Amino acid sequence: MADTTPVSPTPAQGNLQDITESSERHQRLLILDFGSQVTQLIARRLREEGVYCEIWPFTADEARIRAFGPMGIVLSGGPASVTEGASPRAPQAVFEMGLPVLGICYGQQTMCAQLGGQVEGSDHREFGRAHVQVADDCALFHGVWEKGAREQVWMSHGDRVTALPPGFRAVATSEGAPFAAIADDTRRFYGVQFHPEVVHTPHGHALLKNFVRRICGATGDWTMGAFRQEEIERIRAKVGKGKVVCGLSGGVDSSVAAVLLHEAIGDQLTCIYVDHGLMRGGETEQVVSTFRDRFNIKLIHRDASDLFLGALAGVTDPEVKRKTIGRLFIEVFEEEQEKIGGADFLAQGTLYPDVIESVSATGGPSVTIKSHHNVGGLPEGMRMQLVEPLRELFKDEVRALGRELGVPEAIVGRHPFPGPGLAIRIPGEVTREKVAILQKADAIFLEEIRNAGLYDAIWQAFVVLLPVRTVGVMGDGRTYDQACALRAVTSTDGMTADVYPFDIAFLSRVANRVVNEVRGINRVAFDVTSKPPGTIEWE
Ligand code: XMP
Repeated sequence: MADTTPVSPTPAQGNLQDITESSERHQRLLILDFGSQVTQLIARRLREEGVYCEIWPFTADEARIRAFGPMGIVLSGGPASVTEGASPRAPQAVFEMGLPVLGICYGQQTMCAQLGGQVEGSDHREFGRAHVQVADDCALFHGVWEKGAREQVWMSHGDRVTALPPGFRAVATSEGAPFAAIADDTRRFYGVQFHPEVVHTPHGHALLKNFVRRICGATGDWTMGAFRQEEIERIRAKVGKGKVVCGLSGGVDSSVAAVLLHEAIGDQLTCIYVDHGLMRGGETEQVVSTFRDRFNIKLIHRDASDLFLGALAGVTDPEVKRKTIGRLFIEVFEEEQEKIGGADFLAQGTLYPDVIESVSATGGPSVTIKSHHNVGGLPEGMRMQLVEPLRELFKDEVRALGRELGVPEAIVGRHPFPGPGLAIRIPGEVTREKVAILQKADAIFLEEIRNAGLYDAIWQAFVVLLPVRTVGVMGDGRTYDQACALRAVTSTDGMTADVYPFDIAFLSRVANRVVNEVRGINRVAFDVTSKPPGTIEWE
């Protein structure tokens, strides 16, 4: 992911002991994942209710589930079809533990199939916005949906439940799904064919809240304030009197990790900021002054821009650029940490999405790895233990924790920024001159976005400096300068993205300013490619 501590090695695999520390002190829910694209959204919605939860593969064994001690279990959606023989099933124990269960989409279907109902493929597939008719009252709908109402939901299914297991009743129906929502109040089993976790089901969060609060009886005892205190205790217990180094990138994750660590262990922490000369304009100064002056954190600022730009001379291949930057980053980082006499621990801003054990579409367990997004690997021979104080948190929770810790909004709310920096926004050879041109254009684009009040509505916005020269006319003269492209996308996790729909007046204003104010650019284009098929960055 973007702006993780740039020295991230391959993310550690889900380690039961580490992941579940918060669960020992708090009420908790378990989500069993059948491979849906939106399983993480379920976890985020449940956590928004102040309840700690984890996502495990549906293959999790019974003993592990019992040991975790959840107050309720959610079965996610998934791409498989219950009607096919070898498709995934929930551990039968899930239905024998006396716990509330909520099945969503595939989760509902497998629950029905496993409890004696029937699921069939259907010609009437429902994808996207749909409506359900509320057929009966139900604890899931309490205070939200009334009997007889017609409500909007988000559907994404081919199969559907055609016969209910004993004990269930239908509480909502849709055109394509006669059992769009079902309930067995005695056993506290509920199922929905639609996706309450996505925003396109407008009351979805309220239905999930009912599940968490009314049905599971959770009170919401997991807050960022509590997390902060507990994490500080955990860091102290783990680190003792040891020395910790933390690679600071100026992004949200490493910044919040650094401030939290500093609060826990003070001067035992040293942050190393490797300045590759490829940051946005003014960012280095901001990082250094924030952490050194405001937080009083021991910070080594190593200006290595000559080294990086020297090594990038003549390099045009995107992968070679990335690898060069990654390798140098590690070298410089190691050098600096040797200068301070080494350390016992390496701190990283690893987040929960990096440690969730994912399931593949075929049902076999695998591990989520985003290694290509990290600048480099953990150097061999670097015999430090890892401290990963954010490994239980989602990005939005890291931001909340940052605010709790007083990290300035300019850092907490900052758009993600890739480890290799502006180098991957300059297709072709990277030079110091090009970096300076790009920094100016980028600053104008971001300033206009801020002035228009759009910064927080956009996931990432930046300028790409193109290796193309075009003819223009300024005053009475001919120009022959570089073109640039504006890129702005919305996203929830960087995995998929939509183009931000600026109005043309806004784009014209930015184009005018860039051409007038940035010497070296005489043409501005706007990138309208979504992801997929494009990626967010150009390289
Ligand atoms: P793509 O270009 O793959 O990017 O659609 C998805 C998200 O990841 C960020 N990104 C990176 N972040 N190191 C990082 O820390 C990297 O090497 C890297 N490459 C891409 C990108 O900015 C976007 O947010």
